[in-house]
Amino acid sequence: MTTQPQPVLNPLAEAANATIKAENATVFDLLSERGKRFFFPAKGILAQGAEAKQKAKTANATVGIATENGAPMHLQVVGQYYQGLTPAEIYDYAPSFGKPDLRAAWAKKQRDETPSLGQALTSLPIVTNALTHGLAVVGDLFLDPGDEALSSDLMWENYNLSWETRLGARISTYAFFDNKLTGFNMEAFTQALFSRKGRKLVVALNFPNNPSGYSPTKAEAGAIINALIAAAEAGTKLVVVCDDAYYGMFFDDACEKESLFGRLAQAHQNLLAIKIDGATKEEFVWGLRVGFITYGVKGGTKALYDALEQKTGGIIRAVISNVSMPGQSIVLKALHAPDFRKQQAEKVEILRQRAAVTAIECRKTEYADCWDVYPFNSGYFMCLKVKGVLAETVRQKLLEAHGVGAIALGQTELRVAFSCLTEAQIPGVFSAAAAAVRACR
Ligand SMILES: Cc1ncc(COP(=O)(O)O)c(C=O)c1O
Repeated sequence: MTTQPQPVLNPLAEAANATIKAENATVFDLLSERGKRFFFPAKGILAQGAEAKQKAKTANATVGIATENGAPMHLQVVGQYYQGLTPAEIYDYAPSFGKPDLRAAWAKKQRDETPSLGQALTSLPIVTNALTHGLAVVGDLFLDPGDEALSSDLMWENYNLSWETRLGARISTYAFFDNKLTGFNMEAFTQALFSRKGRKLVVALNFPNNPSGYSPTKAEAGAIINALIAAAEAGTKLVVVCDDAYYGMFFDDACEKESLFGRLAQAHQNLLAIKIDGATKEEFVWGLRVGFITYGVKGGTKALYDALEQKTGGIIRAVISNVSMPGQSIVLKALHAPDFRKQQAEKVEILRQRAAVTAIECRKTEYADCWDVYPFNSGYFMCLKVKGVLAETVRQKLLEAHGVGAIALGQTELRVAFSCLTEAQIPGVFSAAAAAVRACR
């Protein structure tokens, strides 16, 4: 039998691994083989450049950019499209970990929005190329081929592409809603955790959920956290990923408005909580590509978080080097703008009204034969469970006969993004959907 030669660990990876092992042996066990190998090249080009930035007062010949008149060189045909940003805020490279001011501002925002975090120590948020990239980094660091990730059956399809297709992990699902479609299926979730007792498991929690638009109630959120703590207590080694992509879009007072990360980050030593969030949906800047990855574990020390940040920064450096500077600069300025919260609330209010109109229209009794409605109270979407026809057939009919676009998922789920419908369009979308369902039967 031939054995594959193991790659030699870089001393910096060895040091980070030793720290992680000493601070929390479970977190070390949770790392993938790739995660164990990774490190940030602290003595490489970037680090030497950073040192020179501080000390090279005569001439700095370190960085791979071009300068002119003390600023990054640039073309007017590019610069004309930017207002209110200095050349350094547009053209320069950002650090692999992200702009320090942005990381600090986002950390403050997370704390302000998550009182349950209290004084619990977490890592600093590390900037990612929005949430997709943050999720990919989680996979890179914590999923080996064959490892299992647990998600609700209603989930964003890109989890499959990133974790299964790209990394060879396996995604298992539990039923998100109970049979009567009244709320979160606590029994299915608890059972899924219980049947994996004692193993390594990555759990993805996405609230507000894509595609259903559901966030748990406060009671459900508490029960979810308790179930995860019980699993950790029973010996399961958990990475719990809070995909908070749609954070802040809550339209019902009953739903939990805090990220579950706040409590999970200090829940149990066997449970590494990872918050994946960002400006994309919350700040309505989909194309800017600014997201964050933040770690928290009960008893987590600065040394542990530093080591995790080093591995994360290393993988970012290896794959994309760093995230768009203008994107980061604009998000940072927006976070500091006095009107930021006001403007954001105004847009959320528009979505709330669309959700309210949608809630009335989709549940009209005249459509009862066509679909059931999955519960929704947040986010950008809602989802119909069509009756007696395939969702894909309905989708095609809706598009061809009525000119209405929606997304078919699975056999029976039709996702409607009310976030991009005017209130006036909403009644017509559901009457067309009903016509399409009836025509396809
Ligand atoms: C649940 C969920 N997570 C993550 C993302 C990715 O967001 P981003 O555009 O920031 O990569 C999306 C985008 O649709 C999403 O629906």
